[in-house]
Amino acid sequence: MSELNLILLGPPGSGKGTQGERLQEDFRLPYYATGDILRAAVREGTELGNEAKEYMDRGDLVPDEVIVGVIAERVASPEAADGFILDGFPRTLPQAEALDRKMEELGRELTAAVLFEVSDDEVVRRLGGRRTCVKNGHVFHVEFDPPKNEGVCDVCGARLEVRDDDKPEVIRRRLEQYHEKTEPLIAYYEGQGRLRRVDGSVGPDDVGDRIRALIATLKMEEEL
Ligand code: AP5
Repeated sequence: MSELNLILLGPPGSGKGTQGERLQEDFRLPYYATGDILRAAVREGTELGNEAKEYMDRGDLVPDEVIVGVIAERVASPEAADGFILDGFPRTLPQAEALDRKMEELGRELTAAVLFEVSDDEVVRRLGGRRTCVKNGHVFHVEFDPPKNEGVCDVCGARLEVRDDDKPEVIRRRLEQYHEKTEPLIAYYEGQGRLRRVDGSVGPDDVGDRIRALIATLKMEEEL
């Protein structure tokens, strides 16, 4: 396949970050997770971070104009010339349209939008037990994917914490935002013939295997 330009789509806590990390290693492609980018900006106290913080704390989406430029710049960068993995972007129809315009301008095409199908109940279970590394954002779960040493990241040894937006009332708001603003993207990418559904409710290794099988199918389709 000449390029692999993937979008990971799905509700909060559906496993996009968990699989994004694996895909990045498997395919050696740049991985752009807007949540990670925004949280880093908040930590560093940049203009972007200051603008985004209040929305993130409430579980609301940051305004489209704040995030679109951030991703457009990365997609057009030399490191993304052979492809990229987007996690958490686009999340609204205007963001999806802006990405399409950028891809057209670059003379490139999205390969697929991979939808992680997971119920709201499962989202609540997963986010309630998530622990995130304060340094590099590596993700664990107290029950489903526990770290070897409690409270310590297996990868970089940093402290693990509960994300500010993983509190029950904020999780509910994030789910509402997903259903209202992000779910319409399912029909959008279905209309483009780019939507690929993955059952995200099975264990992380099974989800990973299914995505790799899906990518192998996409490669075969391209060769036909
Ligand atoms: P963001 O960080 O993108 O949050 P999200 O989409 O809500 O996704 P999460 O990171 O919560 O979950 P995930 O799907 O990556 O799941 P994970 O792999 O961690 O965004 C945060 C905020 O930033 C937004 O609310 C918004 O304010 C702002 N923002 C970001 N992008 C934006 C945009 N484009 N426009 C506007 N605003 C934007 O897994 C979750 C847990 O489950 C983990 O503990 C994991 O170990 C476990 N787990 C994973 N897979 C499995 C499995 N298969 N089985 C069992 N457990 C599993």
